[in-house]
Amino acid sequence: MQHAYPFHLRAMRADDLDAVLAVQAACYPPAMQEAAAVVLARLRAAGECCVVAQDAEGVCGYLFAYPSSLGMVTPLGAEFAPARDADTLYLHDLSVAPRAHGRGLARRLVEYLLARAHGLRSSALVSVQDTAGFWKALGYEAAEVDGGDARAALATYPGVARYMVRTLTGPGAPSPNCSSRRP
Ligand SMILES: CC(C)(COP(=O)(O)OP(=O)(O)OC[C@H]1O[C@@H](n2cnc3c(N)ncnc32)[C@H](O)[C@@H]1OP(=O)(O)O)[C@@H](O)C(=O)NCCC(=O)NCCS
Repeated sequence: MQHAYPFHLRAMRADDLDAVLAVQAACYPPAMQEAAAVVLARLRAAGECCVVAQDAEGVCGYLFAYPSSLGMVTPLGAEFAPARDADTLYLHDLSVAPRAHGRGLARRLVEYLLARAHGLRSSALVSVQDTAGFWKALGYEAAEVDGGDARAALATYPGVARYMVRTLTGPGAPSPNCSSRRP
């Protein structure tokens, strides 16, 4: 039987940077590590879309996102450029420290931001590190990117990288919290 794992979600702060980088270091190989200055710039550009999970030891997971356009991809290591007429919540980086894996934190981080994506008709991301099954379970499906720039951006990711999209509003769209399981 799985025991409750005490954690809470909250908005990311600039003083979370070291802890966020530690989670990143534990979750990605060197070729996929993104620089501290870029991570901080993303928080400044889209702080309302950056959230952390905190357990008894401190920050144990995070999600960086920003308002974007359907079909667009953020290159690895690039700063966020929030779209003026955004229609899509782009999830750039979801990471949970190994000590907290398998407790539903990643699912909760995604649901937290999707529940706040008012007015956006879709959510999109690039799945890496064999996570397509994880995203599919959250309602995301593989999709085509929009043009050469987006294809070039996708190519900045080492290994298999899949663009995936979930519809948030309109007929047939799942409720953001329909699969929620609270710890
Ligand atoms: C992928 C990751 C975020 C999942 O975090 P997590 O907190 O352990 O995930 P959850 O506990 O919320 O899992 C939710 C469900 O997804 C499943 N799942 C988790 N990782 C999975 C994967 N790689 N592939 C398929 N399913 C996966 C879980 O078994 C669980 O299924 P259940 O609801 O049927 O029990 C975490 O493994 C991680 O940080 N990996 C390294 C960074 C990374 O690759 N991020 C994704 C970039 S696109």
